[in-house]
Amino acid sequence: MSLWQDNLNNKGKIIHKWAHYFPVYEKHFERWRNRSMVFWEVGVYEGGSLQMWQKYFGPSAIIIGLDINPACTKHAAEGINIRIGDQSDTAFLQRVIDEFGPPDVVLDDGSHHMKQTWATFSHVYPQVPKNGVYMVEDMHTSYWENWGGGLDVQDSFINKSKKLIDELNADHTKGALLPTEFTRTTDSISFYDSIVVFEKGNIWWKRGFRTGGNKET
Ligand SMILES: C[S@@+](CC[C@H](N)C(=O)[O-])C[C@H]1O[C@@H](n2cnc3c(N)ncnc32)[C@H](O)[C@@H]1O
Repeated sequence: MSLWQDNLNNKGKIIHKWAHYFPVYEKHFERWRNRSMVFWEVGVYEGGSLQMWQKYFGPSAIIIGLDINPACTKHAAEGINIRIGDQSDTAFLQRVIDEFGPPDVVLDDGSHHMKQTWATFSHVYPQVPKNGVYMVEDMHTSYWENWGGGLDVQDSFINKSKKLIDELNADHTKGALLPTEFTRTTDSISFYDSIVVFEKGNIWWKRGFRTGGNKET
């Protein structure tokens, strides 16, 4: 059963997702299934997506939902933990990290406001372990004024993420940009309609080399 079919057949709590997100989830989350891992979803709403993630990631996953709305605590269940706070409150985020360990996979489906989304990313992403995934959805708000976005707004999440492409490539800028922790730990940045995904890798050997070319072989 795919995540998409599961979602279509959902008879549990309400899930609020765009259809075109599902192939993106499957592509980036697949390798974390049936492993001992910590998953965060920022934005609990009616709790249906947390049930879906628990089913998807399997019984060894610790599922954590963060929300500003205290009513969301009712969606806690075995293996599903809810913590209440503002996603831009870094002390709150750190308390959750200290309690459960850093998240291997983060899905930000919270406020979708530029400042809050960036505050969460800035605090949590550096603590995501190797091979971890940080996904931010509904980033069409990066183009919407009421969410702090706009096509030419430099502080939009998408425009800031575009700048991170240069940071990922800092080693090749001939000193114009110094490599950072982000350069050293990030494997890829993927952009989709409304979604940005950051993946951490094992970046231990960035060096061009040639092999082969022996005329006798
Ligand atoms: C789009 S809904 C989440 C939908 C849910 N993930 C799903 O797929 O069914 C957004 C949620 O983010 C929460 N939220 C809004 N602002 C927030 C903030 N500053 N910090 C944490 N949660 C926030 C809202 O209370 C709401 O429950």
